[in-house]
Amino acid sequence: MNASTQPSSATTALPLCCPSCHGDLTASEASSTQPTGLLCRSCTLEFPLLGEVTCLYPKGAADLALWQARAHKEQQDLLHKLQAVNQALVNLELKADSIPTATKERLQQLEEGYAGQLDCLGELLAPVLSDGAGSDRATYAALNTQALSNNTTLFSYATNLFRDWVWGEAENNQAIDMLAQVAPGSLGRTLVLGAGGGRLAWDLASGSATAVCAVDINPLTSLAAAAICNDRPVRLWEFPLAPVKPSDVALHRELLAPTSIPISAPNESAIGRTPITWLLADARALPFPPGSFDTVVTPWFTDVVQSSPAATAAQVNGLLAPEGRWLNFGSVAFADADPAQCLLLPELCDLVAAQGFTEPTVIEQRGPYLCSPHSRYGRYELLHAFSATKNASAPHASRKTTAQNTQPIWLQNSAIPVPALTQFQDQAMATQVHAYLLSLIDGERSINEIADILQQRQLISAHEARPLIQGFLEKMLLE
Ligand SMILES: C[S@@+](CC[C@H](N)C(=O)[O-])C[C@H]1O[C@@H](n2cnc3c(N)ncnc32)[C@H](O)[C@@H]1O
Repeated sequence: MNASTQPSSATTALPLCCPSCHGDLTASEASSTQPTGLLCRSCTLEFPLLGEVTCLYPKGAADLALWQARAHKEQQDLLHKLQAVNQALVNLELKADSIPTATKERLQQLEEGYAGQLDCLGELLAPVLSDGAGSDRATYAALNTQALSNNTTLFSYATNLFRDWVWGEAENNQAIDMLAQVAPGSLGRTLVLGAGGGRLAWDLASGSATAVCAVDINPLTSLAAAAICNDRPVRLWEFPLAPVKPSDVALHRELLAPTSIPISAPNESAIGRTPITWLLADARALPFPPGSFDTVVTPWFTDVVQSSPAATAAQVNGLLAPEGRWLNFGSVAFADADPAQCLLLPELCDLVAAQGFTEPTVIEQRGPYLCSPHSRYGRYELLHAFSATKNASAPHASRKTTAQNTQPIWLQNSAIPVPALTQFQDQAMATQVHAYLLSLIDGERSINEIADILQQRQLISAHEARPLIQGFLEKMLLE
């Protein structure tokens, strides 16, 4: 980046480039004093600034719009759950003489929690939601807006926030201790990939790293983590998966950092008070020039990111300066459709060594994972931490393996005609059947009558008609 055009925003201390074309970035300014984000000088993509978090998704504002839709969908779902609890309470009141006290207490707690969460989300996600009202709930459901391609949603890692800042001291300490064992000394300029709730980034910034850049794809955890690390407590409700007692079904939490991060290197500081830079980005298309970091940390990440382990290793190699270190931590539980990609730890270590690193130094320890004291669920895992030092360039440049480069051209460029692929035609047909069947439900017809009509139109065979329609309607009732 040209020094004269460096943005005066959260990204000042970090060399950044466009995640899409790797061109230079410049500050885009609404007024002469307030930068609203970054702009690529080559491909003109815009990257908005959300408070102290810079949004550097590969498609810039278009990717952010998808997260905005997901946030609207979550709000609508929450409202739906609130209405269901309100209704359940009304139903209980109608049977006034036999209200089970514990059930009433649980439902009231949930009611308070859902209503409170709507407020909290409105506050936390305000920078994402600021662009007007959302779409219809049915449209979101039809377009499958809620999840990323690997089925993760805005809330998939919300529990990590409570582990990081409320009840997870043992888990947090184990992570930082195991990393310190495999990588003693200063870590220098450090990138945390898949930073989640941000506690490890905070611990590293408070200790062995001179400056930390925390990257995640999820705006819920990133906005919360950035606020907490800037000494602004975040209010959220926790809904444990398997609550122990009625008062555990919804817990009002205030998430805050144990102390302010000591500022040891103010010139490295991105935001002024903490040496952590928060970026919303896709780890498969990162906005950094090669060799930008002394250390890359991947906590609970390598088996979650939607890349092959070889692509991840090559990418981490490219991000590191010569002699830089890769620190990996967590479980090893790859779940790829291709069995060859589902590596165990020894295979992962061999692969790392083949991608321009020394043989990793590994330690293993048993430990808890997301063991909330208010939930009956909780995992206990054989954790590992490894450190591997870059001693050569990786055989394959990571940039060829980014998400965007593997997408067909008509997905990358919205002006190109979409091909009539069989998948789309099959889905169109299925949707028509779906819509026709539902249009026959008019409050008058029985399943038999609906089956007769579908049979006459030769959409369904005689002996399958009733069970198929019954099964379909039963599933819809359960959803
Ligand atoms: C299992 S969580 C671990 C979070 C955190 N490191 C921790 O230890 O609690 C995996 C994290 O990776 C993030 N993630 C998944 N795919 C990503 C991608 N393509 N780019 C950036 N972050 C991603 C998720 O949003 C999530 O926060």
